[in-house]
Amino acid sequence: MAASPSVPSYYVTTPIYYVNDKPHIGHAYTTLACDVLARFLRLDGTQVHFLTGTDEHGQKVEKSAAAAGIDPKAFTDKVSQNFRDLAGRMNYTNDDFIRTTEPRHYAACQALWTRLMDKGEIYLGAYEGWYAIRDEAFYAESELIETPNGKKAPTGADVEWVTEPSYFFRLSNWGDKLLAFYDANPDFIAPRSRRNEVISFVKGGLQDLSVSRTSFSWGVPVPGDDRHIMYVWFDALTNYLSAIGYPDETNQAFKDFWPASLHMVGKDILRFHAVFWPAFLLAADLPPPKRVFAHGWWTNEGQKISKSLGNVIDPLVLIDTYGLDPVRYFLLREVSFGNDGDFSHAQMVKRINTDLANDLGNLAQRVLSMIGKNCGGIVPTPGPFTEADAEMLDAAAALHAGVREQFLEQAFHRALESIWDVVVAANRYVDQQAPWTLRKTDFARMETVLYVLAEVVRQVALILQAVMPASAEKLLDQVAVPADRRSFADFTTRLAPGTALPAPQGVFPRWVAAEEGAIS
Ligand code: MSP
Repeated sequence: MAASPSVPSYYVTTPIYYVNDKPHIGHAYTTLACDVLARFLRLDGTQVHFLTGTDEHGQKVEKSAAAAGIDPKAFTDKVSQNFRDLAGRMNYTNDDFIRTTEPRHYAACQALWTRLMDKGEIYLGAYEGWYAIRDEAFYAESELIETPNGKKAPTGADVEWVTEPSYFFRLSNWGDKLLAFYDANPDFIAPRSRRNEVISFVKGGLQDLSVSRTSFSWGVPVPGDDRHIMYVWFDALTNYLSAIGYPDETNQAFKDFWPASLHMVGKDILRFHAVFWPAFLLAADLPPPKRVFAHGWWTNEGQKISKSLGNVIDPLVLIDTYGLDPVRYFLLREVSFGNDGDFSHAQMVKRINTDLANDLGNLAQRVLSMIGKNCGGIVPTPGPFTEADAEMLDAAAALHAGVREQFLEQAFHRALESIWDVVVAANRYVDQQAPWTLRKTDFARMETVLYVLAEVVRQVALILQAVMPASAEKLLDQVAVPADRRSFADFTTRLAPGTALPAPQGVFPRWVAAEEGAIS
């Protein structure tokens, strides 16, 4: 029976990525989490809008382009393409890809700016203070660290003293209103520990924010005063509105999808999304997004990832080494989503061999080859279900609602854990029911057991379409689920007895030692 979707529409966004660099594991991770959620919700009947893109303005990009000896537009065209290519290779299903150099984005930034200006929320002043180009962020003197090489930002970035005319946003007026907003919307910032950090930052007092620069030109001009270009974060955050047609608030996409359901971000950029962004929006009389989730950072074999250490993990190398679906699985299974995590070759191999090959791969292979050998490759007709059968089927059936809830809380690791609980339970059920013995003692009972197991494989594969789409598709092909019966509307539509199954094939190969050491 087709249930109506629990969430009618859902707008999920990734940060837009700086184009001064090649995509790395951090970028791949943020977008992957959004992709899994978007895929799940689409299968669930939700109208989804999944946005990613590139953040192409600012001094950092201007400098990188100059260093490459090309103009910033040609530079960003080239580097932005790397992120689109990554989307293809990672099998992401983003509905749109926004670039901040597009006319639709300029229109949105300038409209939002004008609205804030008209409301008296932006005023012209002069900026004097510390600026870190690498972070594209201003820092107070008190935040800086003294090092033998001079003052540095808390992130370690170089800072420079900047004195220039600047427009300011009256952020200092918004502290209490933000606190009231957080209070009224307890799920706005997740995970909880991060929420507390943001609240104490706001309680510490907010100063007006410099939102324009005059010392470089690669950005969106301030309407009516084009000596100034907009602060890159003002520009970047507005992408979430530009992509759905703002400033045309009658645009269908805007009506369907604003406020955004979820901005997924890394922990380093939470403040911009959970403080500045809702303040801009509240000041412009636009509703803030419903939720901002800050995930943690990956290290590589225990070490901080950095270009200078030369240990940046290239997602394309990972895919070439381990295969796409195992990488997608690993990244979301290995670490509690929200915490920091470590990438290690040994752990990756362990997950491939244990979870994928032994647990799931073996389950499917055992069940399907028994059906192949003993039932002529035809889905058997079950007899009455015993308590153990019903328990097994109920556990699999509960995955739909359970995983939905976990995904909507961005508890990806817990969702995968609960799916694997069912897989492990199914392997235990095979051992307990021993269909190979039943074959000789009670053939009809063996047919029932194999039917139950094929059903479990079907339901697990349906859910896994969100995480490992290509592998789940192969599993669903093997239990002959028609292409139009693969959405969650058909979650409870059981396999039809009498259906012919194709010859079983392994879906999750083991990692074999000969290939080890391929990743450095
Ligand atoms: N352009 C800004 C975002 C603007 S959004 C309106 C930006 N870009 S970024 O390319 O530097 O970073 C994008 C994302 O990658 C961030 O969410 C960041 O947390 C994430 N990661 C960068 N390194 C990472 C790891 N080592 N591990 C996990 N994610 C990390 O910030």
